[in-house]
Amino acid sequence: MFSRDPARGVATADAIARETGNPRVESVVGDLSRMSSVREAAAEIVRRAPRLDVLVNDAAATFSDFALTEDGIERTAATNHVGPFLLTGLLLGALRASPAARIVNVASNGHRRTDLDLAAFTRGDDYFVLRAYDRSKLANVLFTVELAERLRGTSVTANCLHPGRIATRIGEKDGMRGVHRIAWRAISCLTGHGPEAGARPVIHLAASDEVAGLSGRYFTGFTALANRPLARIREERMHERASDRGLRRRLWELSEELSGARFPA
Ligand SMILES: NC(=O)c1ccc[n+]([C@@H]2O[C@H](COP(=O)([O-])OP(=O)(O)OC[C@H]3O[C@@H](n4cnc5c(N)ncnc54)[C@H](OP(=O)(O)O)[C@@H]3O)[C@@H](O)[C@H]2O)c1
Repeated sequence: MFSRDPARGVATADAIARETGNPRVESVVGDLSRMSSVREAAAEIVRRAPRLDVLVNDAAATFSDFALTEDGIERTAATNHVGPFLLTGLLLGALRASPAARIVNVASNGHRRTDLDLAAFTRGDDYFVLRAYDRSKLANVLFTVELAERLRGTSVTANCLHPGRIATRIGEKDGMRGVHRIAWRAISCLTGHGPEAGARPVIHLAASDEVAGLSGRYFTGFTALANRPLARIREERMHERASDRGLRRRLWELSEELSGARFPA
């Protein structure tokens, strides 16, 4: 587990260990919005686990107002895309050490609502909270497709998904103003299922034989019946921009530049 809060990370790891009976649940501290922190955390993960079978990039955040991180990256893009890009790249060696490893990127159907303006990763001319979030989720999708292509012929697959509309506190964290918090909460609570329903499609992509060998695909989790935690998963079309190889390459190169790392994948 990768957590930015040491105490909550340890408490959650302990809770999972108790519930599953698996004592080997560990937490590593890191902040995805800070590239130096991602590097330290990745080094610690590789030290503890030189072979990785699954990497789930789930963390994300939203921010009411534009701000640059210490690395000069718009903070939504840094947290939701550039940090996970760097983490994935730094863990590729450990993933390749597995006979069949899977990378699961949690994106969102919101990726369809926007286009990818790469200048917005470092500038705030047209900043709006939802646009920045959707853009970062489109980056997740394009990154997944490009990564899958670059990993073709290796033992590592990469897929992404929309977990469904899930009632969580993502829109109520620091950095979100009152009106945005209220709007996000209203949408999330009125229409969302519980976090367990959101976790199921992620686990399906990470562990099910049904998707073994598939790569570069986009899936959507859905609950068959309202208010039932039975989540299924189906493959869906992604934003047409995902087939734009030139855009995917430009995103990859910008992500390398912003994260300060080049990946041979
Ligand atoms: N909820 C939905 O309806 C929905 C719909 C579509 C897609 N998604 C996607 O689902 C994923 C999970 O979101 P969620 O709804 O479960 O939200 P959530 O409950 O807020 O979970 C997001 C997690 O990311 C962590 N995080 C945020 N910033 C971080 C940073 N800088 N470094 C490390 N960790 C950080 C948060 O840590 P803290 O607890 O410390 O804040 C939190 O544990 C996201 O990728 C989101 O885009 C959600």
